Amino acid sequence: MNHSPLSPANLFRPALDGRLAAAASFVRENAVVADIGTDHAHLPLWLLSAGKIRFAVASDINRAPLERAKKNAAAAGFSDRMDFVLCDGLSGLEPEKRGITDILVCGMGGELIARIVGESEYTRRPGVRLILCPMSLPDKLRAYLAESGFEILDEKLAEAAGKRYAVLLTEYDGLRRTPTPAELLLGAANIGKDDPLFIPFAEEWLARVERKIKGRREGGLSTAEDERLRDEIKEILKEKTADGNGRHQAI
Ligand SMILES: C[S@@+](CC[C@H](N)C(=O)[O-])C[C@H]1O[C@@H](n2cnc3c(N)ncnc32)[C@H](O)[C@@H]1O
Repeated sequence: MNHSPLSPANLFRPALDGRLAAAASFVRENAVVADIGTDHAHLPLWLLSAGKIRFAVASDINRAPLERAKKNAAAAGFSDRMDFVLCDGLSGLEPEKRGITDILVCGMGGELIARIVGESEYTRRPGVRLILCPMSLPDKLRAYLAESGFEILDEKLAEAAGKRYAVLLTEYDGLRRTPTPAELLLGAANIGKDDPLFIPFAEEWLARVERKIKGRREGGLSTAEDERLRDEIKEILKEKTADGNGRHQAI
């Protein structure tokens, strides 16, 4: 992740990596955005400079990243279209007062994102959209969302700094869901699409699951659950590669 301040050359529109670009694409036109864990504020500044959003609240739990965000906003001339809040998750944001419509939580672990979503009542308000990009443990995040009544409306796969990530678009509807283990890990929406990133993404996860099985076997631990997950991923990959590009061949 690039933490350098914006240079004059990209003053008005910071370049977004694939992950943040995918997150930005899920933000609605004219949204009022909260960017939780904003760090450099690249995402809200890009959205403002693209004319996509009305206002952004940038928050961070740490003082230094928030100062970085303020400096970048001033350099880009957007200080009057942004607020900056030092807080944990949405705890100090007063989202009702600000009329936040779209909440971004990107660049943290899946469990931390789940905690941040779960600790705020506001994330369950009808019409409020959450755009989430876990750097790790996406299965834990999807499990939390499924159990807690959040519908995953869509997902996108993205590449950044040689790694692949899923970006989730979700909204609360109160219905509990029971995804399969592979759906938790890879995302049902991603499995259902023909994104060229899907096969390398799923193969990477398959390799991790296989390494985990090997490690557990060597440690004399049970591997049944991971083997079921491995077999499910293999089955999905087999289907996807039926004709080499993710579609089944015509009979
Ligand atoms: C890796 S950076 C991600 C920056 C940006 N969102 C992105 O995706 O590129 C993670 C940021 O989240 C902040 N953070 C970590 N835990 C947090 C929490 N509980 N609430 C708010 N911010 C948090 C960190 O201080 C850090 O600035």
